[in-house]
This record gives sequence, C-alpha cells and structure tokens, in this order.
Amino acid sequence: MANEQRGFTSSLGAILAAAGGAVGLGNIWRYPYMLGQNGGGAFLIVNMFFVLLIGIPLMMTEFVIGRRAQSNVVGAYKKLGRKKGWGVIGYFSILAAVLIYAFYSVVAGWTLNYIVMACTNQLSGMTPAAIADTFSTFTSHSFWPVLFQLLFLILTAVVISLGVQKGIEKISKILMPLLFILLLLMVVRSLTLPGASEGLHFLFHPDFSKLSGAGVLNALGQSFFSLSLGVGAMVTYGSYIRKEDSLFKTSLWISVCDLMVAILAGVVIFPAVFSFGMDPAGGPQLVYVVLPNVFNSMPLGGLFAAVFFVLLGIAALTSTISLQEIVVAFMVEELHWSRRKSSIISMVLTFVVGAFCALSFGPIKHWTLFDKTIFDLFDLITASYLMPMLALATTIFLGWFYPKVEVKDEITNGGALNANLFELYYFILRFVAPIALLVILVSGIIG
Ligand code: PFF
Repeated sequence: MANEQRGFTSSLGAILAAAGGAVGLGNIWRYPYMLGQNGGGAFLIVNMFFVLLIGIPLMMTEFVIGRRAQSNVVGAYKKLGRKKGWGVIGYFSILAAVLIYAFYSVVAGWTLNYIVMACTNQLSGMTPAAIADTFSTFTSHSFWPVLFQLLFLILTAVVISLGVQKGIEKISKILMPLLFILLLLMVVRSLTLPGASEGLHFLFHPDFSKLSGAGVLNALGQSFFSLSLGVGAMVTYGSYIRKEDSLFKTSLWISVCDLMVAILAGVVIFPAVFSFGMDPAGGPQLVYVVLPNVFNSMPLGGLFAAVFFVLLGIAALTSTISLQEIVVAFMVEELHWSRRKSSIISMVLTFVVGAFCALSFGPIKHWTLFDKTIFDLFDLITASYLMPMLALATTIFLGWFYPKVEVKDEITNGGALNANLFELYYFILRFVAPIALLVILVSGIIG
C-alpha cells in the first residue's frame, strides 16, 4: 500500500520513466561519435555484449537495493547496510549525480539553443564554415550557454516538483513514445537518402581490426553511462517500482530500449553522414556541426533539423529528470524538506556548479587541471572514476555483504517469480561485474 502511494502506478510507467532516465544525450550525442571513432559495427557488438552481460545484472542490483529499502539512495544503503558506514556509498552517489548534472545540463542547454535555431530556420543555408563558427561562437559565449543551461534546469525542476506520479511518470509516458515516433521519422528520412547503404555498412559491418583495447573499454564505460548505473538513479527509481513487477523484466526492457535508441540514432546519423561525404569520426561535434551540414543538403532539411534537435532535447530532459530526482528524493526523505523546496535548492546548487562547466568552453577555458577544463574534469571524474567505483561498491555490498536469501527474495518477489536465472545473476554480481569494473577503474587510472 505504502509502495503504491510512494512510486510509479504501473509497470509501463516504471519502464518508461527509467528508460527515459537511461536514454539520453549518451545515446544520441555520445554513442554515435564513440562508434564513429572506434570502428563502427565492432564497437556496437562489444557494447551490446556488455549491456547484456553486465549492464542488466547491475541495473537489477540497483533496483533490488532501492525497492528493498523503499528509500532514496542514502537512506537505502543506510537501511540495508545496518551499520551506518554503508551510507557513504549513498552520499558519494549524490555527489556524482550533482557533478554529472552540472556538465550534462550544459550540453542539454546547447540542445535547447539548437532547437530554437532549427525551429526559426537559422541553420539553413549556412556554409560549413559558418556552421562550425556558429557552434564555437555560441559555446564560448559568456552569457547564452549559461542562460540556456538555466532554462533547462528550470524545466527539469518544474517536472520534479510535480512529484513522482504527476511529474516524472506522467511526462515519461508522453515523451518516451514521442521520442520513438520522432526517431522513426528520422530513420525513414535517413534511409531514403542516396548512398545510405554505405552508412549502414559502416554501422553493421564489424571491423574488429579498428577496435583497440581502449575502444573495448570505451564500449564498457559507455554501457554504464548509457544505462545510468553507479549514480543511484536506478536505486531511486527502483524504490518506486511496484512490489509485483519483475525486476528482471523491467531491467531487460529498459536496456533493450536504451540499445535500440542508440542503434537507431546510428541508423539516422551514419547514412546521412556518408551520403553527404562527411567524416563519421567527427567527435563530440558530430551532431552539432556535422549534422546541420547534412540537414542543409537534404530536401526538407530545415524540418528534419527541428525534429532531430527536439528529439535530442526530449532525450536530455528525461535524463536530467532522473539526475535531479536522485538528489531531491534524498532531500525530501533525509532532510525532511518539501519537494518544492528540495527542487529549488538542488536546482540552484547544480546551477552554481554547472555554470562553471558552461563557461569552461569560453571565458574560463584556461582554468585547467592536468590539461583538462572544468567540463572535461567533471566528465572524467564521474564517468571514469566515480561511476565505476560506486558500481563496484554496490556489487560488493549486495554480492558479498547483504544476505543472499534476501536478494533472492526481492528478485523473485517473495518466491512468486521463477528463480531459474537467479544463480547466473548472482554469479555475475559476485564475480564477473566486480572484475569488469576493476578493469575499467584500473585502466582509467593508468591511462
Ligand atoms: N544515461 C544517460 C545518457 O545516456 O545520456 C546519462 C545519465 C543519466 C547518467 C542519469 C547517469 C544518470 F544518473
């Protein structure tokens, strides 16, 4: 009963909300350029393998912790860990969420600006040099990127302040289907371009000779980032999943959605890029600089540019919602603040930190540490260190500290569900996932 009031109202609501958290800039902005730089299809296959083998079990693990404890990420580790020391994983998760949100909202803000530009037809007719110039002038400006970042933070905070059911679940039920429709529209456009097959060949024909060891690690890191693991997002959302829902099926659906969006984003981007003779390894600028050129050279390009950036904005929004909810759930439950107050305070906090990330492309780009700007540092600290470290701590906590019978009880919904795959899951939890995480961590530290 308490669970029904606390969290999502249906399994579909839970899947769409958590898939919304997972599907984000990581799928449409980061995945294609990573793929472009790491041998195309080979990266895709390795990434898929990691999602299925480690991603799904880790997501189930976070769900188990959240749903068992019926609590935010700090409360969950404190409650299940009995000894208070485990709560530290929760506090570090909050830190990771704030840091990720700080730099993620910068790119989300850029997207908002590109939506405005695309919808007002400002991108069309520009030369490639002008498009590149527009991007660097905008991102290095001392005011506009910060303003657009703030607008995105406000938009997210409004949804969060409406609550789990009326805010997060409701908006996910509208935006996620819309995202798929817009994506399919883009897929049809891209596949009907002349020469689309070359892009598809690049995407689906694995050339393992182009995939380095670092590429394999990128594929592993990408699977964690993309599934939002190791930040407490899935612990928080797990606590909203109904007791009768299957955590395995929920995780499977979310991961399938996440992979599908990443692959379809590739199907949109690469045929278009090849069709217009652009460089598939364009890096982080791929969607902001390379794609506008592509749109400019295709029929109805202005319309498709608008569709594409709206799509990217939706993906970003459902993810920023999940990032802020981690912090807000903590403030509401542990600090006993109202949801409204928590939404505002966490938004202001993120903005104060995040503005430095936004400005690190321009006015303060010389503020560097180890040759990295603030934006790059936050990205590196979270994706390469905090997320794998927290995910590792989570596997150790649930696999080695928390009683196995309780884990099994939560996964099988008190024995109501089939337990056939449980031993496999538990083996991955105790051995495979921690080793993979250690490898990511060590390689991140060395290289
Ligand atoms: N999974 C998101 C993406 O791929 O864009 C990023 C993300 C969202 C990471 C939420 C962590 C998180 F808690």
